[in-house]
Amino acid sequence: MKVLIVGSGGREYSIGLALKRDEAVEKIWFSPGNGATDQLGENLSITDYRDLADFAQREGVDLTIVGPEAPLVDGIVDLFKEKGLTIFGPSAQAAQLEGSKIFMKNFLARHGIPTARYIETGSLQEATQFIETLEAPIVVKADGLCAGKGVIIAPTREEAVQAAQGMLSGESFGEAGSKIVVEEFLDGYELSVFAVCDGKDYVVLPAAQDHKRLLNNDKGPNTGGMGAYAPTPLVNEEIYRKLDERVIRPTLKGMEAEGMPFTGVLFMGVMVVKGEPYILEYNVRFGDPECEVLMPLLKSPASELFYKAATGRLAEAKIEFHDRYAVGVVMASKNYPYGSSEPAEIIVDEIHHEELAANSHISYAGVSRDEEGRLYATGGRVLICVGLGESIREARDRAYMLVGQVHFVGKQCRTDIAWQALEA
Ligand code: AMP
Ligand code: GLY
Repeated sequence: MKVLIVGSGGREYSIGLALKRDEAVEKIWFSPGNGATDQLGENLSITDYRDLADFAQREGVDLTIVGPEAPLVDGIVDLFKEKGLTIFGPSAQAAQLEGSKIFMKNFLARHGIPTARYIETGSLQEATQFIETLEAPIVVKADGLCAGKGVIIAPTREEAVQAAQGMLSGESFGEAGSKIVVEEFLDGYELSVFAVCDGKDYVVLPAAQDHKRLLNNDKGPNTGGMGAYAPTPLVNEEIYRKLDERVIRPTLKGMEAEGMPFTGVLFMGVMVVKGEPYILEYNVRFGDPECEVLMPLLKSPASELFYKAATGRLAEAKIEFHDRYAVGVVMASKNYPYGSSEPAEIIVDEIHHEELAANSHISYAGVSRDEEGRLYATGGRVLICVGLGESIREARDRAYMLVGQVHFVGKQCRTDIAWQALEA
């Protein structure tokens, strides 16, 4: 099977790594990929989706997997399908679940899926009236895609009104904030739950936890995610069952009934409050860094999961996961998440410890390679060190041993990834 992966991050690298160890896969392309994905396959520099679809047709690509949300919202899946190509991901219409928070919240409400009480509005007066009825803190969200920055948790009602005003005036997020969602704050713990869906059937992956804040003890600014682990002991059969009955099934049924069957990754941002799961948000792709800890837990061939899902045949597949744990620690560049950083050469010490070498690896993200083959950190989240083990502690220790082998000027990482699991 020939596979094309769209994207350039650690998420796409980890999907590539899973496909690389799959005997059914003979060739992998990345578009655009990064300075390390060229070790797993071939990088392409084709930016136009039509040209990319032409390439896929010409080269006989059997399956295209889309990593990030932007191409999905832009309709890459529709375009590939028009040309008769097999592609894993939702249509542009279905991708609205992530592309518009208002669409998502109204969908949840229509189908009785548990979520925070909210209003959607384009009027500051209406927003203010609703804010007056809520207890602080209060959550204000821009409707459109804001690269993960469109959510403000206001500690007081006054600040909530200010946040709403900033968004509605266009000052904070431009057009993406012309409509907003105001909602009640849910106080619990967060899970990232992923279901790979084929329109009707689905496979639920081991529940993960992300660490969104930059610093230890969940302090500092929000980031794309500084580390993740799975499976988390904070989820039990009861929560899986509730998610299945109250969230996943009604979502797939609802999307089908509304004429936009959902194929791809349904990423459920879940808040568990007193044992009850609520949906904070949907994304229509894998989380990053969650994907980097989930792919190594996949026991079945990755091509089977993605191909069967893309062709509506998940019911035939028996997808299995290793009965192990994975912990991923993100190493970011110096000025992340505030700004760009000078390129810095990455040195990874040779790992002599056999057990560590066999149970850990790096997924590369913000890296480039020079002509001599040297690898450079080019900013943002640079790479993620993944450790595997029979317990979360063992997996975490291995991830941090690997972190100790990686050097570049300005590197930063959290030292407490998986803390909630270790305290549980
Ligand atoms: P979102 O992009 O909607 O997932 O929001 C980003 C983050 O804001 C989430 O991961 C939560 O930590 C937090 N958040 C969003 N909505 C709520 C809410 N209603 N109550 C508490 N925290 C929230
Ligand atoms: N790690 C969260 C996300 O990818 O949105």
